[in-house]
Amino acid sequence: MKIFLDTTDMEAVAQWLPHGIVDGVTTNPTLLRKAGVRNAREIVRELAQRVAPGDVSVQVAGETHEEMVQQALGYRTLGENIVIKVPVIRPDGRPNLDVMTTLTRQGVAVNATACLSLAQVLAAAKAGARYASLLWGRVADEGGSPEAVVADAARLLRQYGLPTQLLIGSVRAAGDITKALSAGADVVTVPPALLERWLDHHYSRMTVQQFNSDAGMKMGTK
Ligand code: E4P
Repeated sequence: MKIFLDTTDMEAVAQWLPHGIVDGVTTNPTLLRKAGVRNAREIVRELAQRVAPGDVSVQVAGETHEEMVQQALGYRTLGENIVIKVPVIRPDGRPNLDVMTTLTRQGVAVNATACLSLAQVLAAAKAGARYASLLWGRVADEGGSPEAVVADAARLLRQYGLPTQLLIGSVRAAGDITKALSAGADVVTVPPALLERWLDHHYSRMTVQQFNSDAGMKMGTK
């Protein structure tokens, strides 16, 4: 079981790493845009150094095979633990599996992203992706059952001995982290605020308050 942080926020990464539950980081162009990142290479290099030996995924956004491969090879120079996210298909519906096979043959680890179906996960696995990113919230947006797709994908990857790790992204509620792991996800990538919420519990707080008070501690002294 692995947990990744879905973020470009270096402070959040630094805050979570010492707790020993974060195994890697995923980014995407939307997260970079929302964070106002102008120089993606700089932040990706910093993340790679900070998170090593854990993987850091960074996404290519070209239109052609050549463009995406060049971008990927450029990002790869930023760290051995950089994994290249390649959207499983292009906006016009053509598959990007050729980009994945070109990269994997050159020893570049691939994270096939924007997978919304079982077919896309299996195709990405056949193309040699290290991770297949199945987007939980977006499957649900379309009326699908993310739990069922995750369970089927996990079963089929195992059944055919495919080494691709099933990575669940687009997690929007804390409970979905546990649901995805229970359904068979190898990795769940989570925004930092949601990870905090996943671990918190109001009754645990009250319980610890009681323990501390019984231990003679005054509240709010530290
Ligand atoms: C992670 O790898 C994905 O890019 C991300 O979780 C997508 O989340 P969204 O569907 O909320 O944009």
